Amino acid sequence: MAIDHSGGSTVRIENVSKQYDSKQGTVQALGGIEFSVERGEFVCIVGPSGCGKTTLFRILAGLEPPTDGEVLLNGSTVTEPNADMGIVFQEYHLFPWQTVQENVAFGLEKADTPADEKRQRVQHLVDLVGLEGFEDSYPKALSGGMKQRVALARALAIDPSLLLMDEPFGAVDAQTREMLQDELIEIWQETGKTVLFVTHDVEEAVKLADRVVVMGKNPGSIREIVEIDVDRPRSRSDSEFGSYYERVRSLI
Ligand SMILES: Nc1ncnc2c1ncn2[C@@H]1O[C@H](COP(=O)(O)OP(=O)(O)OP(=O)(O)O)[C@@H](O)[C@H]1O
Ligand SMILES: [Mg+2]
Repeated sequence: MAIDHSGGSTVRIENVSKQYDSKQGTVQALGGIEFSVERGEFVCIVGPSGCGKTTLFRILAGLEPPTDGEVLLNGSTVTEPNADMGIVFQEYHLFPWQTVQENVAFGLEKADTPADEKRQRVQHLVDLVGLEGFEDSYPKALSGGMKQRVALARALAIDPSLLLMDEPFGAVDAQTREMLQDELIEIWQETGKTVLFVTHDVEEAVKLADRVVVMGKNPGSIREIVEIDVDRPRSRSDSEFGSYYERVRSLI
């Protein structure tokens, strides 16, 4: 299937370092991270716990500044959260007092979209993530996988050109995770967005990514970037899949 990548943005991470100073001492969380992501590319970041994956994401999202270096989104330095990014974290961060459609609509609140268009857009997103029929449900009545779908729909609501996902499927069971992976790939193929996706699950990275960035720790740095040259849809039983899996595993 030909993918239209015009909906995605480019990302450049230039020599990004991050140091945390606290009473307990100094932690060099990231040291000299450098890589670029093309428009519409799907890049996964893997690495051991504490290698700075979330730190890198917070910097990408403009939630905190790097100690050194910079991040460029479509050529402009990121200094604060930007409406052109949709963020999905491992914990869903849904508002418990809002229904599914209210949670999804949250992202649109600031946008000055007419009410009618908003309603249509929310319904489209609810359908897109497979939650039709649950529009009026509250988060407490949803399973983990469903909550993650709401979080994804909310991130997509503003039609961002970049999706940042930090271990989004970490809290769901294996079968649900697989379904969500397939759905995400479909949405990515449909929309052409650029996706940066953190996981510590090597299989998940090889299944999803065009390229896998493998990080090491102390300080967080890039060990290697592996291009996954396997046609989609990918199956873990393919021999090609197995050799990429072994390759990435051996690097961690
Ligand atoms: N606000 C903070 N203050 C001090 N140290 C921090 C802070 N945030 C992260 N760190 C430290 O920076 C390092 C990287 O943390 P980070 O959360 O980015 O790792 P991670 O790769 O996302 O790990 P995990 O896979 O467990 O989520 C760790 O040593 C962590 O203790
Ligand atoms: Mg993390």
